[in-house]
Amino acid sequence: MAMENFKQFLFALTAAVTVGFVSIIFVLRWVFYFKEGLAWDGGLAEFNWHPVLIVTGFIFMQGIAIIVYRLPWTWKCSKLMMKFIHAGLNMLAFIFAAISLVAVFDFHNSQNIPNMYSLHSWVGLAAVILYSLQLVLGVCIYLVPITPTYLRAAFMPLHIYSGLFIFTSVIATALMGITEKLIFGLKNPSYKDSPPEATFVNVLGVLIVIFGGIILWIATRPSWKRPSEQVLRSPPTNGGGSVGIKVSQQTDPIDPKGNGDARRRSGKLEDSGQVN
Ligand code: HEM
Ligand code: HEM
Repeated sequence: MAMENFKQFLFALTAAVTVGFVSIIFVLRWVFYFKEGLAWDGGLAEFNWHPVLIVTGFIFMQGIAIIVYRLPWTWKCSKLMMKFIHAGLNMLAFIFAAISLVAVFDFHNSQNIPNMYSLHSWVGLAAVILYSLQLVLGVCIYLVPITPTYLRAAFMPLHIYSGLFIFTSVIATALMGITEKLIFGLKNPSYKDSPPEATFVNVLGVLIVIFGGIILWIATRPSWKRPSEQVLRSPPTNGGGSVGIKVSQQTDPIDPKGNGDARRRSGKLEDSGQVN
């Protein structure tokens, strides 16, 4: 199954992965070179787990989980396997986010700093709670085999919207957190005097915005969407462009005999959200 504008896709994917990796290197350099490193001791080194786990897990891993269905070389894999990869990566991202919250709450409690006073903490905690809801609903609706097809189709636009909304909120929360930490942490010279740490970490914030922007671009191109199982299973046609990779023997609920016009129907399926 050939992908439209494959070269553009490859360029966007390479850019996202590169910017994502560089962001991880930046956050590690921040905590090890400019800050106190990592430890679990109730002090500043424990706080540092918070940005490290957020950038690696909640931002990078979640971003990759969101676009994993769109990788064309996975289109020959079964949809079920891709669901496990999508759900598994999101689950891992959630675990990273949860540990990062434990680190910051534990740090606050051992230093007698109040909890949940900032806009950053309000939006951040709301994003983590919505993310856990998205995970539970995703598993119940798309992995539990007894969920009826109409429910899967009806829920898909909401699943996609809320996934992208949460991801965007996480990026916004990270920017607020970075700004707070620079304002609190930099004294003599302070943030407004642009010491090297401030400039370096501002660049980290810009990288995170670029990463988010590319992931949202990839995830919203209609022509890069994983084709419906029916299109992937349709036999090769003369000049039709479809290679017809056989990926699943399931009966399609919309065209059980498999004799419809696959491409036309897949367009309709995509409008209502793919459900299998
Ligand atoms: C505190 C969530 C990213 C810096 C907090 C708190 C939460 C939270 C819930 C409150 C802890 C408490 O009240 O005890 C998140 C989420 C993030 C995120 C969901 C995902 C994007 C970041 C990043 C930084 C950061 C990237 C950069 C260093 C801070 C700071 C505090 C804090 C300085 C302490 C001050 C405060 O409570 O606002 N975060 N955070 N956060 N976070 Fe984050
Ligand atoms: C698609 C986000 C958890 C099943 C999507 C899309 C997003 C997304 C943004 C659109 C991708 C695209 O158009 O290519 C999330 C987030 C999750 C999550 C943020 C975790 C918090 C789950 C879980 C399942 C699941 C646990 C269970 C298997 C699906 C399915 C699709 C999808 C079946 C449709 C893919 C397609 O047909 O192209 N998800 N998701 N999601 N997600 Fe999730």
